[in-house]
Amino acid sequence: MKIAVAADHGGYKLKEKVKEHLLERGIEVEDLGTHSEESVDYPIYGKLCGEAVASGQADLGVVVCGTGIGISIAANKVHGIRCGLCTSVEMAHLTKQHNNANILALGGRTTGEELAMEIVDEWLDTQYEGGRHQRRVEMLDNL
Ligand code: RB5
Repeated sequence: MKIAVAADHGGYKLKEKVKEHLLERGIEVEDLGTHSEESVDYPIYGKLCGEAVASGQADLGVVVCGTGIGISIAANKVHGIRCGLCTSVEMAHLTKQHNNANILALGGRTTGEELAMEIVDEWLDTQYEGGRHQRRVEMLDNL
């Protein structure tokens, strides 16, 4: 499995931690930037990650900005992307189980490192439930 990661300056530090964590789990990571805390525009990085996942270049993605809000909005503008912004382990569970989120968004300035890794693990380790959720996921993909 390959996971694409991307962040703006507000998410750079947490993105680096997520990358380390994924590599420790034996997951291949494609780092789409940014590579420092110098100010950049989050729509660029949300789009880059969205396109990597939608094209199949990566299986899943993780995006991080200050709050996770802007970069998740950007990723969700790419057709085929279901990006869930999660601030709790429960949200991570449900966004995989119900929404089959193919990108996880995190807030580098709003979510602590330890919780963020728990969120990443829960999202990765939860299976999409399908069933009654499938029709709604298809509706999302057809918007
Ligand atoms: C950048 O300062 C900040 O606006 C960005 O990281 C993010 O929080 C936007 O949603």
